[in-house]
Amino acid sequence: MSVVEFEIQHKDLMGRTGRFRTCHGYVETPTIMPVINPNLMTINAEELRKYGAEMVITNAYIIYKSEELREEALSRGIHSLLGTDMPVMTDSGSYQLFEYSDVEVSNAEILEFQRDIGSDICVPLDIPTPPYASRARALRDLEETHKRLREARLMIPPHGDRMLAGVVQGSTYMDLRQESAKSAADTGFDIYAIGGVVPLLESYRFETLVDIIVTVKRHLPLSAPVHLFGAGHPMLFALAVALGCDIFDSAAYAIYAKAGRYITSEGTKRAQDLEFLPCSCPICTTYTVDEVKSSADLLAAHNLRVSFEEMRKVKQSIKEGNLWELCEMRCRAHPAMVAALRRMTCYSELIERYDRVTKHPFFYLSECSAHRPEVLRYSKRLNRFKLYGSVLITTSQSQAGEFDHVFIVKPPFGPYPVELGESYPVGQAEIPAQIDEGAKTVALRNVLRLLELNSTKARFVFRCDRSWVDNPLIEEIRKYAEVEVG
Ligand code: GUN
Ligand code: ZN
Repeated sequence: MSVVEFEIQHKDLMGRTGRFRTCHGYVETPTIMPVINPNLMTINAEELRKYGAEMVITNAYIIYKSEELREEALSRGIHSLLGTDMPVMTDSGSYQLFEYSDVEVSNAEILEFQRDIGSDICVPLDIPTPPYASRARALRDLEETHKRLREARLMIPPHGDRMLAGVVQGSTYMDLRQESAKSAADTGFDIYAIGGVVPLLESYRFETLVDIIVTVKRHLPLSAPVHLFGAGHPMLFALAVALGCDIFDSAAYAIYAKAGRYITSEGTKRAQDLEFLPCSCPICTTYTVDEVKSSADLLAAHNLRVSFEEMRKVKQSIKEGNLWELCEMRCRAHPAMVAALRRMTCYSELIERYDRVTKHPFFYLSECSAHRPEVLRYSKRLNRFKLYGSVLITTSQSQAGEFDHVFIVKPPFGPYPVELGESYPVGQAEIPAQIDEGAKTVALRNVLRLLELNSTKARFVFRCDRSWVDNPLIEEIRKYAEVEVG
């Protein structure tokens, strides 16, 4: 059950663009909420609009712990305290629980506080279990989290002025992640949040992150936005959005800046190593490289610029239908990202069920392209061809001879009727002139499938050039077709 007004506009893979309504206006998704540290407030929240922010997140627990901030927040409200009328999400102190394992507030107290200061999206005091904790601990934490989530929903009921986030935990146990998502969905929240992943991000265990997002997403309602807690690096946005995440928070822009780090959508550079500024944002075109290198404020501003730029790219690519291509480009930047993309291909069957039917022409960009959802879908649809008589299946353009049907083999899809040479997806697919063995194997598996499906009513000739004959599947194909090499 979902109780929020969330309109989806465009879809690609499991990703979507859309908008949801809060008491302080609509927020377009996917989006990044810059994190505002209430103790520092070096950046004016309203200023963040010019970067592209439509919403911010701050920590209610930090405010609550400081007598001065607490009184001010209670008397003026959180929006006035932060100096913005953008929607504000407040976190509960769970992250402090994570870092320092001690929080001096109860779930009910911190929720009541969030409600009283006028937070637009409140967060219960969930218990983030670290990755690879013992199963017993993960289970114990999860049961407590569920109890707190249910208590929170009673305190902040649906359809009121405040929205409530249902946080999903369960460490790296996929059955617990599933149970957590189901339980949160049963209780019914306005948005859902995937928690407990920060250590995975810090240690570059992106393939495990992929497992968690997919496991959780399949049990959450599609009609509510999903927040991925702690994923502020733009390198990850395309991938996480492709798997169905809609909301991100970024403390990274400021934390990295303080550590002298310059963020790009492909990774992070040490500012001290910069001799050139490979960016055209207002900071990088106004200041000299030495000024940028030596100022945490300028680095933070650049970091935030590139983060929002990347999110706009992700949104545009959803609109165009080439989000997979963007993921492939981003995932080439680091081996841990390659691992994540490979893991994503393990879920192509699931992603295919969400994916749109037609989109931007298929670009083959790496061996991962051979396992894309579109290829899997094509394979499933081969049973739509009903063949009779004589059939030529050829890897070359040569169609010499008299045949009732002619199929061309195009890796990674496999056989397609010559008449569909201009059609999406196979006809329009752009593939490199020299294709890898993996893509050929996928294509040959689909050839075999077509042969098996039609072996009783049709006679086949499979014509291929020398580069194909060493593939072990050729022997299988010989069982159904006369193989001509040349
Ligand atoms: N911030 C980063 N991770 C988490 C999490 O798991 N839960 C909450 N509430 N906040 C977070
Ligand atoms: Zn820049």
